[in-house]
Amino acid sequence: MQRILKPLLAWYEKNRRELEWRQKPLPYYVWVSEIMLQQTRVEAVKPYFSRFIRQLPSVRDLALCEEDRLLKLWEGLGYYSRVRNLQKAARIVMQQYGGELPADEKTLRSLPGIGSYTAGAIASIAFGLPAPAVDGNVLRVLSRILGSEACIDEPLVKKEFENRIRECYLRMADCTHRSFSPGACNQALMELGAVICLPNGSPLCDQCPVRHLCRARSRHLIGQIPVRKQKAKRRREKKTVLIIRDQDRVLIRKRPDTGLLAGLWELPNVAGHLTADEAIEKTKELGVQPVRIRALPEEKHIFTHIEWEMTGYLILVEEMDSDSPEAAGSVIEGQVPGQSLTSGCVAVNLQKVQEEYSIPSAFGKYVSWLGIDRLSELKSQTEALIHLEGEV
Ligand code: ADE
Repeated sequence: MQRILKPLLAWYEKNRRELEWRQKPLPYYVWVSEIMLQQTRVEAVKPYFSRFIRQLPSVRDLALCEEDRLLKLWEGLGYYSRVRNLQKAARIVMQQYGGELPADEKTLRSLPGIGSYTAGAIASIAFGLPAPAVDGNVLRVLSRILGSEACIDEPLVKKEFENRIRECYLRMADCTHRSFSPGACNQALMELGAVICLPNGSPLCDQCPVRHLCRARSRHLIGQIPVRKQKAKRRREKKTVLIIRDQDRVLIRKRPDTGLLAGLWELPNVAGHLTADEAIEKTKELGVQPVRIRALPEEKHIFTHIEWEMTGYLILVEEMDSDSPEAAGSVIEGQVPGQSLTSGCVAVNLQKVQEEYSIPSAFGKYVSWLGIDRLSELKSQTEALIHLEGEV
C-alpha cells in the first residue's frame, strides 16, 4: 500500500485538477462538494458548487434556507434526498456543534447523509486526519492495483480496503509526521479513478503513474477487475406528461412525501400512454377547459431502479383562475377552479415556476414548453380543438 502512495502522490501534485473546493478546503466546502459528487461527475458539479456556496456561504445559511429555494439550487443534480439530508445535518450542526462540523469521523458519521466515505473525506481533506475515504472509484483503483478479485459490491470488501488504508495512514503519520497528508492520498486515489483508471474496461494504463505496480495489468485482468454483482433489471414505467397551461400559468403539483422524487414539484402525469382524446378528458377532470393541443415527442428518463418511458401533450386551456385564497403573495398562486385539494394541482405563473420551483430533470424537454410566452407562437404550435366553444 505504502509503495503505491509515493508515485501516486507525485503524480497527483503535478496533475490534479484545480477545483474550487480544493483551493480552500474548509470543512463546509468539502462536505457540500462531496455530497454533490456522490452521484455526479466533477465537471457537472463545478457550477452547482459555485452557486451553492455563493448563495449559502455557511452552515448557518444552509440550515436556515427555505425548502423550495434549496431544491431550486439542487435542480438538475438529482437524488434530492442528498440535499434534504444536507440541510437536516446542517441544523444539527447548528444546534449541537455550534455551527462547526465536528473534526471526528465517528461524530461526522452520526449526521444524516454522511456515511463512512463522506466522513472519511471530510476528516482527511478538511481536518488532516488519517481516515480512509473509499468510494466506487477508489474500490476500482485498489482492486486493480492489488489484483483483488473480491466483489466490490460486498460491504465487507469495502470495510477491508478501509481497514488497510487506515492502518497504512496511521503508520505513515507515525513516521513522516507533519508532511504526511491523508487528504492528498485519498484525493489522489479518487483522481486516478476519475481520469486514468476508468471503469468499463477502458483505463488509460499507459498514462498511469503506478502501472509498474498494478497486478491486474501484469496478470492481464484489467477487463475482469473490479468484479461486480450483476445489476437487477430496471422496471419500466409508461407515463403521459401533461403540460396544461394558459398564456401565463401552468399546472404543477407536489409529489408524495415518500418514494421516488419525494416531495418535489412535477408536471401532472398519469400512468400509461394516453391518446389525445384521453389526455383531453384527463385535463377536464382537473377542472380546466382545454382549447388547443399538441402531441409531444417521447422521452426517456433512467433512474437507478426505474425507467420512465414518457409521452406528453401540450394542452392549452382557457384562462385559469387566480383569485383563490392562496393567491396573495404565497408560494401557491392559485388553486385550479373546481378542483379538490386532494388532486393537488396548482396553477403557477410560468416565470415563477422557472425561477423558483424545482421540477426534476426527469421531466426533461417537456419543461421547455413553459418557456413560450407569446400566445401567437403557442397557437401556431398547437391544434385547435373543434367542438369547443372557448378560444384563448
Ligand atoms: N470524487 C469525489 N470526491 C472527489 C474529490 N475530492 N476529488 C476527486 N474526485 C472526487
